[in-house]
Amino acid sequence: MKALVTGANKGIGFEIARSLGKRGYDILVGARDEARGRAAVEKLVAEDLQAAFIKIDLNDLDSLREAAKRVDSLDILVNNAGIPDSAKPGRAPLDIAKPTMDYTTEDLRTTMETNFLGTHELIKNLLPSLTDSAKIVNITVPISPTDFWHPLAYITSKAALNVMTLTFAYEFEKMGSHRQIFGIMPGAVATDLNGMEAGGHGGFVKSPEAAGELSTDIIVSGKNQNGQIIQYDGKIVTDYEIQLRG
Ligand SMILES: NC(=O)c1ccc[n+]([C@@H]2O[C@H](COP(=O)([O-])OP(=O)(O)OC[C@H]3O[C@@H](n4cnc5c(N)ncnc54)[C@H](OP(=O)(O)O)[C@@H]3O)[C@@H](O)[C@H]2O)c1
Repeated sequence: MKALVTGANKGIGFEIARSLGKRGYDILVGARDEARGRAAVEKLVAEDLQAAFIKIDLNDLDSLREAAKRVDSLDILVNNAGIPDSAKPGRAPLDIAKPTMDYTTEDLRTTMETNFLGTHELIKNLLPSLTDSAKIVNITVPISPTDFWHPLAYITSKAALNVMTLTFAYEFEKMGSHRQIFGIMPGAVATDLNGMEAGGHGGFVKSPEAAGELSTDIIVSGKNQNGQIIQYDGKIVTDYEIQLRG
């Protein structure tokens, strides 16, 4: 059994890779930086897990096409790699957004290129390499604006990702395919993406290890989850449309 996880050199991606490895999968550690990717492979191998590096840079579409040619018999593809919308070194925790009206076209373009267009290109090119019952998993977020959080570029890119999840799922269903595509929302997790601390916000913020385990439980569940957007606790999001605050 083989799984490819993008952005697997750190954060949630590394922990999903590790958790899948512990459950018997050979892991392809997708990373855009070879040194960081190989360092993650070494950590997994040191735990007696099967892992190999594959260069996956979501901003280099040609390299994604080339990478896909080197993959076969893939059982699980986890599209985890992603960026917040205005990440700056030294930013405060949760400061991944700026006032909505301050966003530029460039902010939107950068985030869409990585979180949506690159991921789409990878999925499309890997389709011939997937097994008949393969699972494609897109790591995502809630997209409704809240008082707590509504970073325009980030949630716009994830909304596009979610629409892709739903439309590919529809096609799989229509074709009578046994393949599945679904989204997982890991909830708030303490990673470099947001600068939060595990256990923060009254215990609301999870460690990457916990997020990796919870996500992997969902990924390997024997259920048909095609077309679902699933929260870390297993709750299926049924009111997917944007909820405007009343
Ligand atoms: N943390 C949360 O609270 C939270 C909540 C819900 C969903 N998520 C989602 O979970 C996923 C992982 O985020 P994280 O929190 O683990 O953040 P993270 O620690 O910052 O990890 C992000 C990963 O994505 C990779 N990446 C970024 N841009 C890339 C590109 N152009 N090509 C290839 N890889 C790229 C990074 O590689 P480098 O090391 O090279 O930068 C890194 O491996 C993201 O999709 C995020 O939206 C996170």
